[in-house]
Amino acid sequence: MSERLIDGNLKEEDVFEKNIRPLSLNEYIGQEQIKENLKVFIEAAKMRNEPLDHVLLYGPPGLGKTTLAHIIANEMGSNLKTASGPSIEKSGDLAAILSTLEPGDVLFIDEIHRIPSFIEEILYPAMEDFEMDIIIGTEGKSKSIKIDLPPFTLVGATTRAGDLSSPLRDRFGIVNKLEFYSDNELQRIVKRTAQVLDMFIDDDAAMELARRSRRTPRIANRLFKRVRDFALVEGEGYINLEITLKSLDRLKVDKYGLDNIDIDYLNALITKFNGGPVGIETIATAIGEEVTTIEDIVEPFLLQEGFIKRTARGRVATEKAYKHLKIVNQGSLF
Ligand SMILES: Nc1ncnc2c1ncn2[C@@H]1O[C@H](COP(=O)(O)OP(=O)(O)OP(=O)(O)O)[C@@H](O)[C@H]1O
Ligand SMILES: [Mg+2]
Repeated sequence: MSERLIDGNLKEEDVFEKNIRPLSLNEYIGQEQIKENLKVFIEAAKMRNEPLDHVLLYGPPGLGKTTLAHIIANEMGSNLKTASGPSIEKSGDLAAILSTLEPGDVLFIDEIHRIPSFIEEILYPAMEDFEMDIIIGTEGKSKSIKIDLPPFTLVGATTRAGDLSSPLRDRFGIVNKLEFYSDNELQRIVKRTAQVLDMFIDDDAAMELARRSRRTPRIANRLFKRVRDFALVEGEGYINLEITLKSLDRLKVDKYGLDNIDIDYLNALITKFNGGPVGIETIATAIGEEVTTIEDIVEPFLLQEGFIKRTARGRVATEKAYKHLKIVNQGSLF
């Protein structure tokens, strides 16, 4: 098994994330419906003394999928084993992971859509019957043997549910789409992070950070981290609205939380393509970004906030986008 299969090296960002990650459903802010349902399913599984049904978590980056996977294991009182789609390159990689499972374990596979389909098939009997077929021997003389696996829970996470094959998707009993967070929820997340890190933040400052975080906890925490630096070095040692506004200005995060890529995207859409409709590949090329970045990170937020619309013929800029970029929409004048 290659070393990349299990998350080993913690980078600075990872250590920070680890410290501030909520550990229980009660500490996990927002996603109320998902939480309520999971509480019931977890309690029922425990009462039956069975592992929780397999769980699929999907949604844009930074909304709390990995965090929720850890929480599920905690709440079940189970061990969590971690793997990620891109590091599973041979069927042996997956077989090796499955064979380390112990009864009741939670196996978390991040970016599960990136497992090649010929390997994915190993998961079907593993998920359905807790069985694994492995091929032993060399070509010509090989045979397949069945190995029993202990009952376990697979938690899969992906930013692109559409890329999952339907046989795989169908084998998850619990499927949850994570939603963008409200300003209030993000404010609570920022305040919680401040508390965990022993830093004081005013309510209005936390709300300002919340509003500029693209509705995403990871971004809220990241902005918090930077503002904390400004507060220590150039402020009063605690975070108030003044130092927050100053920091956000220096960080070039605008009042909707749009960053450079978002602005480039809207600018290209409006000035180069007359507001659309235009295809995603064309925009991606125009601003020099990967299509996947645009699709997974940039567009979900712009859509959610009503800066763009998706039509059958491509992306279209809305009036809100024109206003925000202070460009007059010639089309709407006639
Ligand atoms: N509901 C929440 N309450 C409090 N903090 C949260 C919540 N969701 C996420 N966070 C925080 O946001 C950060 C990002 O969350 P996480 O790593 O779970 O996102 P993700 O969905 O797995 O992202 P990716 O798709 O990039 O893997 C974490 O540091 C976590 O502490
Ligand atoms: Mg993650």
